[in-house]
Amino acid sequence: MHWQRKPTLNAFTSTVATSADGAQAFPIPDNVFAETVTEVRHYTDRLFRFRTTRPASFRFRSGEFVMIGLPNAERPVFRAYSVASPAWDDELEFFSIKVPGGPLTEYLQKVKVGDTILMRKKPTGTLVIDALLPGKRLYLLSTGTGVAPFASLIRDPEVYEKFDEVILVQTCREVAELDYARELYDEVANHEFLGELAAGKLRLYDSATREPHPRQGRVTDLIDSGKLFSDLGVPPFDPATDRAMICGSMAMIKDTKDRLEHFGLVEGANNAPNTFVVERAFVG
Ligand code: A2P
Repeated sequence: MHWQRKPTLNAFTSTVATSADGAQAFPIPDNVFAETVTEVRHYTDRLFRFRTTRPASFRFRSGEFVMIGLPNAERPVFRAYSVASPAWDDELEFFSIKVPGGPLTEYLQKVKVGDTILMRKKPTGTLVIDALLPGKRLYLLSTGTGVAPFASLIRDPEVYEKFDEVILVQTCREVAELDYARELYDEVANHEFLGELAAGKLRLYDSATREPHPRQGRVTDLIDSGKLFSDLGVPPFDPATDRAMICGSMAMIKDTKDRLEHFGLVEGANNAPNTFVVERAFVG
């Protein structure tokens, strides 16, 4: 991980995309970036991450998402992907589910280093620090690939400048699905510059629902039972001090939002900052 954002040269200069398996090449549509895959890592048979080159002109705020596609059709399918890397990184990282028969992920899960990924040029999203009022403790509440925007935020120094405590919460079905966030946590803790900023502030609280784990159960159940707070040694959600971001499935968002509202937190947006914000994780 590099600290300073370095300008990168995009090796891809042709207007026709090729894929490593020699599949048919299609022209690159107008108004998209064509980036090269630099790394692929499969965590489980359901989850993988990939990294790509970053266009020198691409700017985003940590926590935002972009539309991603593949050059495998005349009119490629695009899906929303949170950028999992921080704004200062000279590459882009994405964390994805593999949906059998999914219009994009069926093919995306097969990408290899050197392949071309298409990316629409405009990032957007509500999981940004600016959409929250100042506070002391930031909860990043996620399930599955919903952790991706938070992977960006926990690597952003601004988060540690703005909050005294940053608690990354992730629930997954299986224990191995928690590895991505665990590794990130270690990466931040051991990072030359971030490590110092995050020391004593960043905490990871993960749980699994379908395999034995020291913290068993959905994030919502852990909130309801109070176990989340007692394990962390913090008081229950308090709108005076606590801020939250939620990212997961539609059902998870609704259920988690209900809990936050029960404690008096109020949903905010880019143009109306408040005490929590939500975004649906990409699925399909
Ligand atoms: P569960 O195993 O009880 O369904 P998925 O892969 O389906 O998106 O689920 C990821 C994780 O989110 C799973 O651990 C799942 O638990 C949990 N989950 C699913 N629905 C909800 C919900 N409504 N609220 C909280 N957690 C949920």
